[in-house]
Order: sequence, then C-alpha cells, then structure tokens
Amino acid sequence: MRVGAGAIAAGAGAKVTLLEPTTLLATQTAAAGNPVRFASIGTGVRGCELLKASLRVPDVECVAVSDLWEGRLTAAQETLKKQVATTRNYKEILERKDVDAVIVAVTDHQHRRVVVDACNAGKDVYCEKPLSHTVEDGFAMVAAVQKNNRIMQVGSQRVSSILYEKAREIYSSGRLGQVCCIDAYWDRNSASGAWVYPIPPGVNDQNIDWTAFLTGAPSIPFDPVRFFRWRCFTDYGSGLGGDLFVHLISGIMFITGTNAVASRAQSTGGLFRWKDGRQFPDLIQTYYDYPNFRVAMRCNLNNDGGEFIGFYGTEGTMIIKDATLTFSPQNTLPEMESYSTKGWPEDLRKQYEADWEKEHPLPAPFALKLTERVETYVPPPGYNDTVDHEGNFFNAVRTRKLLVENEVFGNNAALGCHLANYSYFNKRPAIWDASARKITG
Ligand SMILES: NC(=O)c1ccc[n+]([C@@H]2O[C@H](COP(=O)([O-])OP(=O)(O)OC[C@H]3O[C@@H](n4cnc5c(N)ncnc54)[C@H](O)[C@@H]3O)[C@@H](O)[C@H]2O)c1
Repeated sequence: MRVGAGAIAAGAGAKVTLLEPTTLLATQTAAAGNPVRFASIGTGVRGCELLKASLRVPDVECVAVSDLWEGRLTAAQETLKKQVATTRNYKEILERKDVDAVIVAVTDHQHRRVVVDACNAGKDVYCEKPLSHTVEDGFAMVAAVQKNNRIMQVGSQRVSSILYEKAREIYSSGRLGQVCCIDAYWDRNSASGAWVYPIPPGVNDQNIDWTAFLTGAPSIPFDPVRFFRWRCFTDYGSGLGGDLFVHLISGIMFITGTNAVASRAQSTGGLFRWKDGRQFPDLIQTYYDYPNFRVAMRCNLNNDGGEFIGFYGTEGTMIIKDATLTFSPQNTLPEMESYSTKGWPEDLRKQYEADWEKEHPLPAPFALKLTERVETYVPPPGYNDTVDHEGNFFNAVRTRKLLVENEVFGNNAALGCHLANYSYFNKRPAIWDASARKITG
C-alpha cells in the first residue's frame, strides 16, 4: 500500500496513517547568518552519527572535534565533509569562545567529567544516553547544569520522535483507559548487536590516548578490546541497561508523562552465549514499580526480536513495534455475565438474561467492529528521530526554553538502568531511596 504524507488508507479493517514530518525544525527560531557553533567531544560511532544528523539541522555549524583515537578525528571530518579543528584534549575546545554548545558522545564513564567541565566553561550540552555511569555521576551532572544555568539534552532520541509524540497523544487522551501494565523489550541476535566490534588494524597506545581513556577507571595496560568494546566492561559501560533499557525507559517516561524513578526493580538474567570475557549478562529481565503502573523489561542478545513497547489499558492496547505504532481498542461494551449463571436453575437464568437485555439495549447497528477501529501509524520513509532530537536541542540553545529530556529527565532514566544492574549483580530487589539519592536493597 502506498500512501502520501498525512494520508489515511483503509485496508483490511484497519487504517494506516503516514505521520507528517515534524514541524519542530520548521519552527526553529531563524538565526540567519548567526548559526549555533558547536563542537563534538567523542566522535566514535555515535559521535559520527550525530555529526551526520547535524548536517540536516538548519543554522548550526560544527567548528571542532575531539577524540582520543586519531582515526576518529579523521572519521569525524570525513562525516562533516570539511576540515575542522581537532584535538585529543577536549579542554582546548571548552576554552574556545566561539563554541556555544558541545555534543558529548564519549564512553559512559567519561560523561561526568566532560559534562561538568563543559557546564563550568559555560557551554550548553547535548550528552548521549545513559546520562550517568553511576548514581553519583548523575546528580553531579544535574548540579553542574543547574548551577551554570545551562541547556542540556540527553540523547535518547525517541523522546523527539514523531512516532512517540503520536503515542504520547494517544496515551494522554485517555483512550487506553487505565494503564497498569507495560511490557518492553529490545532483542538482538548478531555479533554487532552484542557489541563484538572489530578492532581496527594498527591501533596502539601512540595513536590512542589510553591514559585519558582510563581517567576515572583503574589503571591497566593498553587493551584495544576494552577501548573498542567498552560496553562489555563495568568500569566504562553499563551493559544492556545503559545501552538499551535507557531508550525504552525514556520512551515510557515520555509517553506516559512520568518523570520519576521506579521505586523498586527486580532483575534476573545471565550470560549464556557471548562468553568473551565480558562482565555484563547477554540477557536481562527486570520488573519495575512505577507509581501508576508496573513495567516488565527485557533485553536479550540471543534472539532477533527487535524493539517493542506495549501499553495495556482497560480500554485499549497501544504497541510500538520497531517503527510502527498500533492502537487497538478493547471491547468496553457491557456484556451479559454468562459464565457463573451456567450453575443456576434455568428459570432464574432466563429471568436474569431477559432483565439484562432490557437494561442493555443493543448498540447502534452502524457501530464499527473493533477490528475496524484499529489505528496504525508509521513515520515517512527516511525519517530520522536523531535529526529532530538535535534540532530540538539547538533550538533550545537559541530560545533558552527547557527541553523535555533535560538533565533531570535523563538522570531519572539512567537511574532505572542502575537499579536494574544493581538488582542483577546483587541478586536482590533494588530499592530507590529518593531522599538519600541512593539505591538500597
Ligand atoms: N542515542 C543512541 O542511539 C546511541 C547509540 C550509540 C551510542 N550511544 C551513546 O554514545 C556514547 C558513545 O558511544 P559510541 O558507540 O559512539 O562509542 P565509541 O567507542 O564508538 O566512541 C566513543 C568515543 O569516545 C572517545 N572518548 C572517550 N573519552 C574521551 C575524552 N575524554 N575526550 C574525547 N574523547 C573521548 C573515545 O576515544 C571513543 O572514540 C555512549 O554514551 C553510548 O551509550 C547512543
């Protein structure tokens, strides 16, 4: 089926709507001739993706990049298709007066250091998810942003996605009824999905600043596996929690309007297949207690299930499966109780049925069947939520308006990852003590 932008096509009892491209970028405050100048710190896989996306955001210009491996500095310039200032020492970038904002896409364990320094240097910050590597790191970054009156956005781009915006609209309309139960998973079944990235030939401690990489982590001899597959190791990454849970948690927080930390998380899982010396499991399943609903979340690196969030309400079900959103209403018409009356004497049962039918006249004959009321939404081809997310950030740099996925939101989402990991490693429920800002259990 082919449908134009915004079109609705009837088919097989359901309607499919191609969502309009976002208007967010179109509404950016025009700043012709005065672009936001930014620098990128950390130009690895994600850093380069962000640079590529920035080329589609109007009125922004990257003027410098920093990374610890020379190869990344080359890759960044190739992505930008131009030469910019390069340095291994991000502090040189922070000293530049012509840099308004920085994109921070360094390894998780370096987020705090770079973000706090950037805020203290007066830069606005787009920091990749998960905001923090530890509970303490998160609160230190929140304090630095607020003390310096900076704009911050954390990088779970689904928060700016038109698909998630539609889901938020449906959720807040009340059409789902009461939602007590949310399921979410993200499953992958490949070496790349399990972070077994190839080590580039020729890397050594001359072309990688290994000492800088280890800042804040135990000192060990040069190890390219740790540098390139850092997600597998607790000193630098947060495993599946920090890599994928955080996207699911941020999506759920955004759609439900819940800017809070789960009060309790209970995890199980294990390392079943990718036994390559990593310290994190390849399967983690966590139950979260949020104030108004419970969430069952899973990441499994041993099956290609894709990405899924399901909201199960008393009046409808809403599913996001990869890039498709579906809303299916539940049958909420009153129904005659016909189970327990099986054990009644016939005359009582017949009387009950007759009374019930009198009190509940049939619905209008033109009422649509449930299957005809299913709604499906998809983004247009080529849609990229990272472009919208960056667009929102740079727009806020100009307008100074608070962003949805600001430092508090990002910190709350990352705390969900830390709760999951705490429970997994300690084999007991993790309890969030909000007043002490601590995980206990
Ligand atoms: N939003 C998303 O969808 C998404 C996707 C992938 C990664 N990420 C996040 O982006 C961040 C980077 O992940 P990645 O996949 O790009 O990793 P990567 O290993 O490809 O790149 C990280 C880079 O950071 C650099 N770095 C580390 N400390 C530095 C410092 N002090 N100064 C300058 N550079 C430094 C390293 O040299 C490395 O090249 C992580 O926080 C990750 O969770 C987000």
